[in-house]
Amino acid sequence: MPPAITAEGLVKKYGDTVALDGMDLSVPEGTVFGLLGPNGAGKTTTVRILTTLLRPDAGRAAVAGFDVVADADRLRAHIGVSGQYAAVDDHLTGAENLEMVGRLYHLGAKRSRRRARELLERFDLTDAADRPVQGYSGGMRRRLDLAGALVADPPVLFLDEPTTGLDPRARTTLWDVVAELVAGGTTVLLTTQYLEEADRLAETIAVVDHGRVIALGTADQLKDRIGGDRIQVTVESAVDLETVRRTLAPLAIGDVQTDAVASQVTIPVVNGAAALTAALGRLAAEGVVVRDAGLRRPTLDEVFLTLTGHHTVEHTKESVR
Ligand SMILES: Nc1ncnc2c1ncn2[C@@H]1O[C@H](COP(=O)(O)OP(=O)(O)OP(=O)(O)O)[C@@H](O)[C@H]1O
Ligand SMILES: [Mg+2]
Repeated sequence: MPPAITAEGLVKKYGDTVALDGMDLSVPEGTVFGLLGPNGAGKTTTVRILTTLLRPDAGRAAVAGFDVVADADRLRAHIGVSGQYAAVDDHLTGAENLEMVGRLYHLGAKRSRRRARELLERFDLTDAADRPVQGYSGGMRRRLDLAGALVADPPVLFLDEPTTGLDPRARTTLWDVVAELVAGGTTVLLTTQYLEEADRLAETIAVVDHGRVIALGTADQLKDRIGGDRIQVTVESAVDLETVRRTLAPLAIGDVQTDAVASQVTIPVVNGAAALTAALGRLAAEGVVVRDAGLRRPTLDEVFLTLTGHHTVEHTKESVR
């Protein structure tokens, strides 16, 4: 089966800014693919090109078998998009907005109306369905925008930072919806700055930085790339942090991280369980009072730091639409 989404060597420049610098992607049908990267990495630019809203300066891409430039018109009938540039008409009600999308996709009046009601219900917007969107909160707009992407049941769905600005309940709803869609064969490309989200939803994650993919794999594969487990020791008193650091440094296979606020030291190790036992023995011999100690796998943020030398930026962007 051909991939649902392919991109080869996409380049996009804005003046001197290189937004995309050779972006390559291949997304198998019926899977969730996560583009994970910090602000300005090129996520939205990629989505805009794949959804025909923007033409690449170089490279090629195809979605559902249609070239993003040559077959742009036919391509559009096969995709749904939600994201940072979405068009929601403020003067129409929520229901009218969704019905309009249905009509654009040639669903017919009756089916458009039924689909709109279903999705309003699904995203907790039934009470607001007949109110003009200009009175909606930011989170309500985001939910309406997501519903809009789903109206036509498109085989390929693009979700640009779908959970930014959503409350925890709406976030869970979205996660459930994505899981259901994929079980039904839909292909989803989502972008996120949230490591847990990529980890939870996406089978394959592409880590993006400066307009290209710098790492590709499952969450577990990416974690394996920086290897090993982490021992995390929390001490009663922050004055002991330096002792912990010095005592455990010989066990470390990489950088030891100290978090003074959490009174915590994190040490990358091999053979986690044995190393943890050894670590606790050494700390006891030094007379350090340990409040908590345990093993954990590296987070995707640590993967990102290892790959790029900088952290992913994790903050909400309520105001970005
Ligand atoms: N219309 C534009 N004009 C000029 N520069 C742009 C434009 N759109 C994007 N850029 C630049 O291209 C780069 C990539 O932007 P893009 O929006 O694709 O990043 P992103 O990964 O989606 O970031 P974010 O997480 O903030 O949404 C950035 O340096 C950005 O400033
Ligand atoms: Mg973006």
